[in-house]
Amino acid sequence: MKAITIKEFGGPEVLEWTEVEDPAPAAGEVVIDVAATALNRADVMQRWGLYPLAPGTSPYPGLEASGRISAIGEGVTGWRIGDEVCALLTGGGYAQKVAVPAGQLLPVPKGVSLIEAAALPEATATVWSNLAMTARLEHGETLLVHGGAGGIGTAAIQIAKALGARVVTTVGSPEKAARARELGADVTVDYRTEDFTDHGPYDVILDVIGGEYLQRNVHSLAPDGRLVIIGLQNGLEAPLNLAELVFKRASVHGTTLRTRPAADKAEIISEVREWVWPMIEDGSVELVVDRTLPLADAAEAHRLMEAGRHIGKIILVND
Ligand SMILES: NC(=O)c1ccc[n+]([C@@H]2O[C@H](COP(=O)([O-])OP(=O)(O)OC[C@H]3O[C@@H](n4cnc5c(N)ncnc54)[C@H](OP(=O)(O)O)[C@@H]3O)[C@@H](O)[C@H]2O)c1
Repeated sequence: MKAITIKEFGGPEVLEWTEVEDPAPAAGEVVIDVAATALNRADVMQRWGLYPLAPGTSPYPGLEASGRISAIGEGVTGWRIGDEVCALLTGGGYAQKVAVPAGQLLPVPKGVSLIEAAALPEATATVWSNLAMTARLEHGETLLVHGGAGGIGTAAIQIAKALGARVVTTVGSPEKAARARELGADVTVDYRTEDFTDHGPYDVILDVIGGEYLQRNVHSLAPDGRLVIIGLQNGLEAPLNLAELVFKRASVHGTTLRTRPAADKAEIISEVREWVWPMIEDGSVELVVDRTLPLADAAEAHRLMEAGRHIGKIILVND
């Protein structure tokens, strides 16, 4: 098969469409003939050499994919050769085939094409696990989503609205603000010109930024507020006034989906299927696709993501 390999760490030009060995399904896994995959920021970090991979992880980028099951490993039940699926991956989605634990498979939701389904697993699993399972976001609470026009942000706004929350979101342009409002955001804050702390307090904050946002996030939390940090785009370290945390009885969580054990991922995927798939099928959550490119043009897709002008997900299709 062919896959996008990382020749050496660096810019988008290090991505190469190369002949590699086919994967085989281990016990509990299936192999998918990949129809499409989708970009995530982690792919860009992996390409720069900033995302150390756990032993056994596929060296090819790609945290999600869709396609048809072409091989089934020992002990897998409930899936058949030819089934159309999408899957949450630990890596390897930028390829013609990928092996994945059966617990990370999802059916393609009704009303979504096989190609578009590639862009659902990572964002829906990230948002559901953090908002519903970790932060326990409740009906009537106020949520701040940083980066509401991104792949994670567009899903977070809609899932939170479907859960009955009021949603405030930060965006980097008027065009992105307009799209975030169409998706249901109640308030948009342009992070280049406005201060998000002016629009709090927030019961829950989903933070993809880190760095100096830590102090401002905690400052704008409501009593018993929950801050969940899932991205570190602006830095790994920051000072924090602990008195604010203590007096508000606030909590700060940090999570990564990719490094969770397979059993945790299976639990998250099972909840996504139970709770988020119906939201997609009844139209309350729509997939926001910025554009679709051939998988062999992954370098161009990485350039687009790094330029930061996209809204929603960038999909890569296997021709
Ligand atoms: N921990 C996990 O399990 C997990 C899983 C998935 C993703 N993530 C993280 O989530 C983040 C988003 O991923 P993605 O795939 O959705 O990438 P993406 O589509 O490129 O989104 C990045 C977002 O960050 C926003 N942003 C950049 N600087 C900002 C600032 N100063 N203030 C507020 N927002 C800012 C951008 O807003 P504008 O475009 O409006 O400028 C954009 O919406 C990444 O950091 C990624 O690593 C973590």
